[in-house]
Amino acid sequence: MRQLQLIGVGAGDPEQLTLQAISALRSIDVVFVVDKSDPGESADHLARWREELLRRHRPDGDCQVVTIIDPRRNRAPHGQAGYEHAVRDWHAARAGAYEDAFAAVAPDATGAFLVWGDPSLYDSTIRIVQDVLARGRVSFDWTVIPGVSSLHALTAAHRIVLHGIGRPVALTTGRRLADDGWPGRPGEFDDVVVLLNSDLSALEQLDPAGLTIHWAANLGTPGQALAAGPLSETLPRIEALREQVKREQGWVLDLYLLRRRP
Ligand SMILES: C[S@@+](CC[C@H](N)C(=O)[O-])C[C@H]1O[C@@H](n2cnc3c(N)ncnc32)[C@H](O)[C@@H]1O
Repeated sequence: MRQLQLIGVGAGDPEQLTLQAISALRSIDVVFVVDKSDPGESADHLARWREELLRRHRPDGDCQVVTIIDPRRNRAPHGQAGYEHAVRDWHAARAGAYEDAFAAVAPDATGAFLVWGDPSLYDSTIRIVQDVLARGRVSFDWTVIPGVSSLHALTAAHRIVLHGIGRPVALTTGRRLADDGWPGRPGEFDDVVVLLNSDLSALEQLDPAGLTIHWAANLGTPGQALAAGPLSETLPRIEALREQVKREQGWVLDLYLLRRRP
């Protein structure tokens, strides 16, 4: 493989594919598709969505699809040392699986990953490619093409600015918010964006005084849902909407911005 492109393809709305992403899609020879050994409903949806993008932008059907089986991670290691060992083993196995796939394609081919949203936001593809190159068995040029992230789809859908004037903003995950509470030192962040939510339990643990929320699920898709308002009043509606989206679409991806104002 001569070149690898990590193409950010937006977070669900096919109209949010950039011209750069479309021209990259038209130029590639091989698409790598990662098959998670533990597929979830949204993983299945994302896989179907990528196939649809390929059909739309590569009607010639000349683009080869190569599946990479993502190795399973040991999720029940013993203690901190066991955990670190398990993660190191998993990263090595993953780099090995990607390396084998890259080595098997034609030497002059251009390969690509269609990365959901933007490749720099809570996605491991860039790190895995760096690991593969560091191992030294295969070498190639690589490019990252930015995509419209779910974060920016959220702020656009709600027509809001992400942060207060000249103020910092924090990004975190539902699990970190539940485990660690509000990020940063007291007063450091008034605006916090939370992705990767398996449920909304992190919100139930927060003191809602002075907090507003801007929430969205399945942005850019026909099942998109939005809600915004003071946290205490809005949370029951968000919980109901989240269930409804999941029931009607069969999957749910959601994120939210929490804003603290005196
Ligand atoms: C693994 S991260 C990938 C983020 C992606 N790289 C991006 O730029 O948006 C997946 C998380 O992003 C958020 N997300 C992605 N797509 C979304 C969508 N269409 N609607 C709402 N949230 C979305 C959810 O919090 C989801 O759990």
